[in-house]
Amino acid sequence: MPWPLPALLTWAAAWAVYLGLRGLDAPAVVALLCGAVIGALPACCSPWPLSGWRRVFMALGFPLSLAASGAATDVPAWAWLLPLGALVLLYPLKAWRDAPFFPTPPGALQGLKRLVPLPDSARVLEAGCGLGDGLRELHAEFPRARLEGVEWSWPLRIACQWRCGFARITRGDLWKTDWSPHQLVYVFQRPESMPRAVDKAARELAAGAWMASLEFEAVQLEPDACHDCPDGRQVWLYQQPFRPRRHATPTA
Ligand SMILES: C[S@@+](CC[C@H](N)C(=O)[O-])C[C@H]1O[C@@H](n2cnc3c(N)ncnc32)[C@H](O)[C@@H]1O
Repeated sequence: MPWPLPALLTWAAAWAVYLGLRGLDAPAVVALLCGAVIGALPACCSPWPLSGWRRVFMALGFPLSLAASGAATDVPAWAWLLPLGALVLLYPLKAWRDAPFFPTPPGALQGLKRLVPLPDSARVLEAGCGLGDGLRELHAEFPRARLEGVEWSWPLRIACQWRCGFARITRGDLWKTDWSPHQLVYVFQRPESMPRAVDKAARELAAGAWMASLEFEAVQLEPDACHDCPDGRQVWLYQQPFRPRRHATPTA
């Protein structure tokens, strides 16, 4: 479905629910909350590939347009904190510190198996799996692998499991999850998280296992391979035992 159709349909559905409930004399707060949930659901669980920002626009469109329209004069001031509360639930601060929500784009990992030959039923972990866009790409590339994901946000974990029935998703901290049973750990976090990821992978991954990082390079390591994504980004690939890069920046 071409953009911005998903957003327009989502906002229309949220407004329809809000106006319908107000027409039935439901309290303004209840109507606002139901409209906001209707707006946020497709943003979280959309079957269409959408970037992180587009999902944010979809989720915030209804509450912002309601506030701007002046149609919600009887909504008490505190009720405007509800969408903010929902955002904090969706993105706990801890997860935001490591990496906000930006999904792996569709097709980004196509061809990865040529560089990372994994045995059948290899265990693959996506550390910080969000809504599972990375897992879907990994599943397309390694259909026989046993895929797992760990995600800190409860709602994202539930939505991810719903979208990725082929994988086992747990809610937890990627830094406290044991990476050692996995032949490939895939991360898409932040540049600042990379020294910590390298340190953890170096301690826990077995010889021959891989760490793959979308976009952000581990500047202290020599990459074993590099996969070019269709959008121009790279997936940096490191195989144990890692090779330190000459004149590497020391890990924090
Ligand atoms: C940039 S997004 C990538 C999402 C997914 N990996 C993908 O590529 O589609 C980073 C994800 O990591 C999650 N995250 C951040 N810190 C985390 C932590 N300490 N433990 C588990 N998940 C975390 C965030 O909630 C977010 O969903």
